Amino acid sequence: MEHTSEYLTFALGKGRLASKTLELLEGIGIMCEEIKDKDSRKLIFVNEEQKMRFFLAKGPDVPTYVEYGAADIGVVGKDTILEEDRRNYEVLDLKLGKCRMCVCGYESAGELLKHHEMIRVATKYPHIAKEYFYNRKQQTVDIIKLNGSIELAPIVGLSDVIVDIVETGSTLRENGLVVLEEICDLSARMIVNQVSMRMKSERINKLIKELKEKL
Ligand code: PRP
Repeated sequence: MEHTSEYLTFALGKGRLASKTLELLEGIGIMCEEIKDKDSRKLIFVNEEQKMRFFLAKGPDVPTYVEYGAADIGVVGKDTILEEDRRNYEVLDLKLGKCRMCVCGYESAGELLKHHEMIRVATKYPHIAKEYFYNRKQQTVDIIKLNGSIELAPIVGLSDVIVDIVETGSTLRENGLVVLEEICDLSARMIVNQVSMRMKSERINKLIKELKEKL
């Protein structure tokens, strides 16, 4: 456990979000030059002057690192936060990577949704799909977990609909699919370990305040 460490440790989700997050942090004077080196295989980066550490992890692992206190702070998509359902504080909407979680499929699948039929739902987000269909819509469905290219599922007949992220909508359009229902809005969020929030409250609150002013 790292709660007592003098460092403030950040877990950032790998990919597009990480570089935008680093830019945002730079805007409030938090620097980590080394981490931007795409060719580096180094896993953790330290800023000794500012007593900060940064590491990149797979998105779905970020809430796990934060819950166990291996990182004090995490930056990750709301989709991942909902899917992983970990005990962390969500403290700030960074307004980056805005998109929506939607039920999508062929226009014709709209009827199946309306009549609460037993349908097959393919998704990378089984927890979100289950929560939506079972609890919010009270509809029993068959959820099929996939790991990517979810739009393929209705096209090849694996499922009736999908639950997936829609950003520009071009993946749907290019494949003849449409948004049938909207589940929720998504964007990058900052999450904080519950113990760190108390033990390092001064540093963390200052950081949140400064970021808020930039948003
Ligand atoms: C995501 C998402 C959609 C697409 C939506 O996939 O799962 O497929 O982006 O973006 P759009 O509305 O702008 O077209 P991603 O590219 O991350 O890869 P994946 O399909 O392998 O998950």
